[in-house]
Formats: sequence, structure tokens, C-alpha cells
Amino acid sequence: MFKIAPSLLAADFSRLAEVVAEVEPHSDLLHLDVMDGHFVPNISFGMPVISSLRPHSRLVFDCHLMTTNPGAYLAELASAGADLVTVHIEAVPDPTAIARKARASGLGFGLVLSPPTPWKAVEPFAELCDLVLIMSVHPGFGGQRFMGEVLTKVESARKWVDTHGLAVDIQIDGGINPETAPLARDAGANVFVAGTAIFGSPDPGRAALELRKVIEG
Ligand code: DX5
Ligand code: ZN
Repeated sequence: MFKIAPSLLAADFSRLAEVVAEVEPHSDLLHLDVMDGHFVPNISFGMPVISSLRPHSRLVFDCHLMTTNPGAYLAELASAGADLVTVHIEAVPDPTAIARKARASGLGFGLVLSPPTPWKAVEPFAELCDLVLIMSVHPGFGGQRFMGEVLTKVESARKWVDTHGLAVDIQIDGGINPETAPLARDAGANVFVAGTAIFGSPDPGRAALELRKVIEG
């Protein structure tokens, strides 16, 4: 029920296939942060990196789109090998059409909330989602400090999903490490994204395993 999602953003980009192979035995998803320099003030990587990695991994490719006009990239993302796409509710206030488009492209679908966005913004669309991502840092950069104030939002999300009987994963992203992950777990998260704590470690495979052990208690 708990899933580990190393975030590629913190990896050594000269050794991507190798470092992904190191984390693979202890991970469930590979979190891929696609940024366009508009929705967030940073640029990361896009389709060529995703398609190059695809033959090297069996992990679920979880693409966190931090772009304006995310709907424009769904078909290309799917052909590059993505399994799941998450888009920011701040970028698409009514995500009904984009959810349909994602599914038509064969992608799982999720919505993301930046730290200032309240859970209420996603409530009407929760049933469209396989996953809801609650960000615990401002989107755009790895290596930031975990914002504990989002934990009440995780609790609200968990409560809504459970009381409505929805099979929606609750993912947390930003500043997740062995100290902060249990706080997010206790609030109701079940999918844990970690960049720095895994790929910033000298032994990423071991760091992924240790994170899993701490979460599983
Ligand atoms: C930030 C990204 C995160 C980032 C997390 O915009 O969405 O996925 O890689 O990095 P850490 O784990 O270092 O906070
Ligand atoms: Zn992310």
C-alpha cells in the first residue's frame, strides 16, 4: 500500500540509466518532473529523456507536469513511455477535459496542489483521479525544506477519499526524507516522492530501501 517514488530531478544526469537501476528494486514509481520555465521558474527535462530511459526500467513512469497548457503534451508523453501524468489544478481550473484526454492517450491521471492551494479546489474532481499529489514545497526546485503546514491538507484529502470510497492514491512531494515521511504517512499519504534524500545519497538504492523501511515502520 505504501509506494516509493524517487524523483529523477536530483539524479546525476550523466548516469541516468545506472542510477535508475540502483533504485529500481526498492521503488514503485519513477517520478519525472517536467518543467517549462513558465509555470515554474525553472527548466528540467522532457520527452527525449523519458523515452531514452523507458527501455531501461519497468517502474511506473509518473510524470509531474509543471507546465502551462499541460494538455498539449499528453499524447507525446504517452508515446515517450509515461504511465501516469499529474497536472496542477492551478494550471487547469477545470480539469475534466484534460483527464479525459489523458485517459484516451492511455495515461493514468492525477491532480497536483501547490502549497497555497486548498484541498477544496480539487474536491469536485477527485473522482477523475488515480492519484492526488500534495506538494510540500513550492514547485520548481529540489532540495527545499518540507512545509509541515500542508499536513492538514493531506488529512483532508485522505478523509475525503476514504469517506467517498475512492481508490485514489495520495502522493506527497517535496522535502521527503526519513524524518518527514512518517509525518506525511500519519496524515494519510501513501505515495512518497523523494529526490535529494534518494539520489542525493551516495547509495541511492539503499536510501530508497531505508525510506521504505521507515515508512513501513
Ligand atoms: C519540485 C519537484 C519535486 C522535487 C523533489 O518541483 O516536484 O519532485 O524533485 O525534490 P526533493 O525531494 O529534493 O525535495
Ligand atoms: Zn515532483
